[in-house]
Amino acid sequence: MTIDNRTVKLNSGYSLPLVGYGTFGGPDAPEQVYAGSKLALEAGYRHFDTAYLYRTEEALGKAIRESSVPREEIFVTTKLWQTFHEPQHVRPACERSLELLGLDYIDLYMLHWPMAWKFVSYEFDDLKKPDENGDISRIDVPIIETWRAMEELVKAGLVRSIGISNFTMPMLEELLKQCEIEPAVHQLEIHPSLPQEEMLKFCNKYNIVLTAYSPLANPGYSGMPSMLSDPIVLRVAEKYGKTPVQVLLNWGVARGYAVIPKSVTPERIKANFEHFNMDKEDIEAILDIGRTNQYRSCSPLRDFGPSNNIFDEPVDLYKK
Ligand SMILES: NC(=O)c1ccc[n+]([C@@H]2O[C@H](COP(=O)([O-])OP(=O)(O)OC[C@H]3O[C@@H](n4cnc5c(N)ncnc54)[C@H](OP(=O)(O)O)[C@@H]3O)[C@@H](O)[C@H]2O)c1
Repeated sequence: MTIDNRTVKLNSGYSLPLVGYGTFGGPDAPEQVYAGSKLALEAGYRHFDTAYLYRTEEALGKAIRESSVPREEIFVTTKLWQTFHEPQHVRPACERSLELLGLDYIDLYMLHWPMAWKFVSYEFDDLKKPDENGDISRIDVPIIETWRAMEELVKAGLVRSIGISNFTMPMLEELLKQCEIEPAVHQLEIHPSLPQEEMLKFCNKYNIVLTAYSPLANPGYSGMPSMLSDPIVLRVAEKYGKTPVQVLLNWGVARGYAVIPKSVTPERIKANFEHFNMDKEDIEAILDIGRTNQYRSCSPLRDFGPSNNIFDEPVDLYKK
């Protein structure tokens, strides 16, 4: 894996900037993402992460099209939602994302989650339809069938690279055995409370780049220990004269993967892009945080119901 000038070369031949801008948010997300992406482009970000589910593709696309930064210099990731896993829905879903973004191609198109749900419609309100027990049951569409339709998108020139998100190691191993085009990127939750050491080793071996979502461990999220006040993170921040957030982000970059912090706050957007080098001993010290107790903030069991408990989480939802 070659890392140069804060970008990493993907197995597809394209380069991924290691610091990206996350665009998931609440009901105000489209307006916030439009303003935030403009600021991020000015601050130097060239990697943007969205998804059909987030409803921010249109706002992000508008900010990109209005910017003076050439399209070729910008890397846009978006994601296929679970209701579109049946092969006949993959291309229409991709074309819909392209239309919302107002772009000719997507740099990286990912499977958002490794499970298939029944197709209802493309309406945003139809993307998550739980039954009376709060569960969204899965339909039987093998990942490889969806993946073959993703491979067709590359061949048709709609998409430059394809990737996955939220896969377990056995799921990824199975996909690698059967695919024609290997995933270029695996996006998953990574922060000091969930350092994903085994997945990082595995993906490095197969030349798949990781992208860390929730790299700040979602500060303020109830049930998660705050990484911004962790004594080890604070000690490292003090040593380099940086903020805890800057330590968390540069810790990820130093480990060789991309980070996509989300912020709608102008001064944070700028500060989150600042780079500094960290000594090996500090990278190791931060790794120790998650070696005893691990927590994840993004729970398919909590958000989608028991049929989707792919990480085999215990009932205590926040603890892995
Ligand atoms: N593939 C997936 O399933 C998946 C799942 C979750 C997320 N994602 C992607 O990953 C992105 C990032 O993850 P995330 O949004 O869950 O979590 P995150 O980036 O770890 O945390 C976002 C929170 O941190 C705050 N924040 C940002 N910079 C800060 C700073 N310098 N100081 C203090 N607080 C700061 C933000 O507040 P303000 O905005 O108020 O500044 C926001 O509340 C998402 O936007 C999305 O693009 C993907």
